[in-house]
Amino acid sequence: MVRIAVLGATGRMGRLVIDAVVRADDLKLVAALTRAGSQAIGTDAGVLAGAGAVGVPIASASADALADCDVIIDFSSPDALGQILPLSGDIPLVSGTTGLGPDLLDALVERAHRGPVLVAANFSTGVTLLRDLVERAARALPDYDVEIVEAHHRFKRDAPSGTALALGQSAAAGRDWNHDEVAVHGREGQVGPRPEREIGYHAIRGGGIIGEHEVWLVGPGERIQLSHSAIHRATFADGAVRAARWIHGRAPGRYDLRDVLGLGR
Ligand SMILES: NC(=O)c1ccc[n+]([C@@H]2O[C@H](COP(=O)([O-])OP(=O)(O)OC[C@H]3O[C@@H](n4cnc5c(N)ncnc54)[C@H](OP(=O)(O)O)[C@@H]3O)[C@@H](O)[C@H]2O)c1
Repeated sequence: MVRIAVLGATGRMGRLVIDAVVRADDLKLVAALTRAGSQAIGTDAGVLAGAGAVGVPIASASADALADCDVIIDFSSPDALGQILPLSGDIPLVSGTTGLGPDLLDALVERAHRGPVLVAANFSTGVTLLRDLVERAARALPDYDVEIVEAHHRFKRDAPSGTALALGQSAAAGRDWNHDEVAVHGREGQVGPRPEREIGYHAIRGGGIIGEHEVWLVGPGERIQLSHSAIHRATFADGAVRAARWIHGRAPGRYDLRDVLGLGR
């Protein structure tokens, strides 16, 4: 049995992860953590997730709450992840939280020296494969312009999405470009002709859209679109649970969903 703690347990993703953990024969939910002062504290995590009572109350994040777990699965916020890192010792960490700033990314690199860390902006198998396809397409079509369009629900806090940025990084890798030097977010006003070395991002927000991503490669006479649509959020929860099984018992270090899926890097 792999003992799992879920951070962000009251959220859209956290509840789906709890549901997936509770349904798995080889996993055991031992902690379900959220913000101190949350009204949900004390509620049975399985009941909140719609999976039936499991005897694990929602609690606030603390080192004690993590004492009995083998793997932490995190879908929360950058603040919550930043708070849990110093409390998490060397416990293997699987994180899907997006919108991570440079300080938090550095802290995750540091944390990976103590115990294994797997961070993915998108836990779906399809997006993991899409990243590979985008890198190959960007390399094969060096003079096609790369534009990335993404759409998400109205509650999403960060823009562009972590997935869009990961796709852009794959395109940049295919071109041997420094991503941060070529990324442009939206366009407005007298922006002038499009430079060749540019990756444009466009973020749509509305209603209940789960997650749509399109990578356009546009040449003078044609356009190729590589796209992905998430149909149900459970696909992300299933991917994170798969990653949690995989990371259990691994050596310290940074890992990628491509390692889990055996796609290589
Ligand atoms: N990698 C992927 O495949 C993937 C897929 C979907 C979403 N995401 C990302 O996962 C994250 C969560 O998404 P979601 O849709 O589940 O969001 P959500 O419904 O807003 O849930 C966020 C959870 O984190 C908790 N939280 C927020 N700030 C906290 C803090 N400072 N301390 C402790 N707990 C805190 C929230 O508690 P309260 O309700 O009390 O605020 C809630 O339980 C986002 O970054 C999102 O972009 C990633």
